[in-house]
Amino acid sequence: MAYIELNQVTKRFGSVTAVDRLDLQIAKGECVAMLGPSGCGKTTTLRMVAGFEDLDDGEIRAGETLLSSKREKYYLPPEQRNFGMVFQAFAVWPHLSVFENVAFPLRIRKLPKAEIIARTEEALKHTNLLQFAAGSPDDLSGGGKQRVALARALAIRPDVMLLDEPLSSLDPHFREEMRFEIKDLQRRFGFSILYVTHDQSEAMALSDRILVMRAGVVQQVGTPLEVYGSPANRFVFEFIGLSCFLKAGLTPSGMQIAGNDYAWPNGIAPSTEIIASGRGLLAARPTEIDFVGEGGVRGHVISKAYLGETIDYRVMVGETEVRVQKTRRVPGPAVGQSIGLNFPHPHWYPVD
Ligand SMILES: Nc1ncnc2c1ncn2[C@@H]1O[C@H](COP(=O)(O)OP(=O)(O)O)[C@@H](O)[C@H]1O
Ligand SMILES: [Mg+2]
Repeated sequence: MAYIELNQVTKRFGSVTAVDRLDLQIAKGECVAMLGPSGCGKTTTLRMVAGFEDLDDGEIRAGETLLSSKREKYYLPPEQRNFGMVFQAFAVWPHLSVFENVAFPLRIRKLPKAEIIARTEEALKHTNLLQFAAGSPDDLSGGGKQRVALARALAIRPDVMLLDEPLSSLDPHFREEMRFEIKDLQRRFGFSILYVTHDQSEAMALSDRILVMRAGVVQQVGTPLEVYGSPANRFVFEFIGLSCFLKAGLTPSGMQIAGNDYAWPNGIAPSTEIIASGRGLLAARPTEIDFVGEGGVRGHVISKAYLGETIDYRVMVGETEVRVQKTRRVPGPAVGQSIGLNFPHPHWYPVD
C-alpha cells in the first residue's frame, strides 16, 4: 500500500518548471532515492513533501491524509506532518547542547518532560551520541554533526525521513559508514525514506527504488537493477554507471560504424523503429564489452590502466574512444594492438 503519494505534483519558479507533473508512490518502510544532476528539482520536491513549499498543481497524500492540494488550496503545516528531515548543511545549533538540539522538536511539540527525556536519550543512543549529550555540536566532526541532525529527526519518531544529500559534505569513509547506519535505523524503526542525492552509487546502495529525474521530469522509476540494467533512455544510461556510445548507420541487414560495415550478429540489432530512422547509438557498459581477435567492431588499443582487480582499456573505434574493463586474470590485448569488440548486451538509443 502506498503511504506517501504524489500525484501530478508541479512547481514553477517564474519561467522555470522545477518539478513537472511528478507521480510517485512510496510504500511504508520503503526507501526511494531521487537521483539526478544539480538543479533537476530534487530539493524542491522534498520541500513540497515536507510542506515548506506550495504546489502549482497536483496533490500530496500520506495514507488517507491529504497533505497538500493545489485544487483544494489545502496545506497541512510542516510540524503537523510527522516527517523527520536532514539536509546537506549541518543544521545544528551551536549554542544548544547536543541533547537540547535533539530535544528541540519535542519541546516545540510540547511533549511531557519525561517523554522528551526518554525519546531524546533513545535517539542519542541509536546514533551513538549518548556520551556527547552534554557537549556542543561544534566539538563534533562533520559526521558527528550530521548524526545530531539525524537523531533530532529520529526523536519525533517519524513516519517518513526526508533526507536531502545528507552525506555529501562528509568524507568518503564516513559517507559509507553513515549509509549503513541510516539503513540500520530504518530497519529498527520502520520509517519510509525519500532520499535525495546526485550520487548514483549512494542511490544504488541505499534504496529499494530509484527515481531518475532530469530538468523536473521523471525519466524512470525502478529498482537499482532495473535502472542500471534496463535504462529507459540515453540520459539514464549515462547517469547511472559507466557508459560508452558508438554512433552507427543502420540498415535492415547491418550497421556501419566508423566507415566499416558489419552484418547483424545474432540478437544485437536495435528495434525496427530505430533501424527505420537509419541511425542509432550503440550503448554498452565497459564491463559488458568483449575482446575478439577476429571480427567484432574493429578498433585499436590506445591505453591500458590497472585498477586493482580490473584493467581499464581505452580503444579507439574511428574517432570514438571506447572504454573496456576486464579482469586482470585473463590476458588482454597490448597497447597498439588491433582488436575486435563484441557487444553481447547492447542497448540502442535514437541519435538526438
Ligand atoms: N526559491 C527559488 N526561486 C527560484 N528558483 C528556484 C528556487 N528554488 C529552486 N529553484 C530552481 O528550480 C530548479 C530546481 O532546483 P532544486 O530543486 O534546488 O534542484 P536540485 O535539488 O535537484 O539541485 C532550479 O532551476 C533552481 O534554480
Ligand atoms: Mg538540491
